[in-house]
Amino acid sequence: STAALEARAAEIKRKLGKKLFIPGHHYQKDEVIQFADATGDSLQLAQLSAQNKQAEYVVFCGVHFMAETADILTDSCQTVVLPDMRAGCSMADMANMEQTELAWARLQDKFGDTIIPLTYVNSTAEIKAFVGRHGGATVTSSNAKKMLEWAFGQKERILFLPDQHLGRNTAYDLGISLSEMIVWDPVAGRFEEQEERESDFAAVTMILWKGHCSVHENFRLEHVHRLRLEDPDRNILVHPECTFHVVQASDFNGSTKYIIDTIKAAPAGSKWAIGTEMNLVNRLINEHPDKDIVSLNPEMCPCLTMNRIDLPHFVWALEQIEAGRPVNKIRVPDHIAVEGKLAIERMFANV
Ligand code: 13P
Ligand code: SF4
Repeated sequence: STAALEARAAEIKRKLGKKLFIPGHHYQKDEVIQFADATGDSLQLAQLSAQNKQAEYVVFCGVHFMAETADILTDSCQTVVLPDMRAGCSMADMANMEQTELAWARLQDKFGDTIIPLTYVNSTAEIKAFVGRHGGATVTSSNAKKMLEWAFGQKERILFLPDQHLGRNTAYDLGISLSEMIVWDPVAGRFEEQEERESDFAAVTMILWKGHCSVHENFRLEHVHRLRLEDPDRNILVHPECTFHVVQASDFNGSTKYIIDTIKAAPAGSKWAIGTEMNLVNRLINEHPDKDIVSLNPEMCPCLTMNRIDLPHFVWALEQIEAGRPVNKIRVPDHIAVEGKLAIERMFANV
């Protein structure tokens, strides 16, 4: 039963004490978040992992790429465990090494040594290592603007992996026009609209990888338009993984931490429509009964892979640690970890 599982989780946490650290991403289910030692957005969770030298075991409540980052940043004597290995991220899966090497070679032909790669942390450790190896850095949704500015201080052009929307939204925010951006389609192995663009390639400064978040693409312009018509004084607050048109039409956009802070600071009685993952929207609704909060898409949008981390998997992972035979260990091979860490540390140094 749920009560028995909760009692087990509490018991093991008590028993292992400081040996155990449980970071939880804001998109995790309440049933596991209640046991988290710290919650945060991707940047905060990465920083917390880097700081915690005490914990022998880090039970990561989030998705695979976050657990990989935690493994890269923790010492080799610390073990990172992901309670369900099926907790991946469809966006991170949209960029593999073969595709990236092909894109890079093509970009060198086209633009020579004028490009620096940046990758959203929502990417595999291998992609982070590629970026680290080529002088680039990771970014999160809370520091993307600063990191783009840093990158433009290094080179004329940026290859931004794997989320075209975060890349486009951030670059536009910095004053880069859409005509200076081009999309690389990794499946087709070519630029989108290549023939039409052939004459103005030199003007391109931002090369966007054609990846996206399947959760945030569910927030559509029609939802914004309907609300503006039916409920014009409702504020619209979205995550920058939403499409360009949705972000442009909304009132505010930012990382999960920004979304939480904005709602916290909002006056009682204010009205909000939020475009982000369902668990976070529901938590905000429950924690702020004095504010009128709805999901921007009336059909709530869950992240199915975040939801793989449920109470039974979480307790199972804890019990295996208690028994001295941890399961689902995340181990990034050393050569990848070293170069991946370069990319992550360049981010830490600049935010
Ligand atoms: P942040 O918490 O950094 O905003 O990331 C959102 C996300 O989609 C994580 O997968
Ligand atoms: Fe990946 Fe989107 Fe889920 Fe985040 S919300 S883990 S980007 S699929």
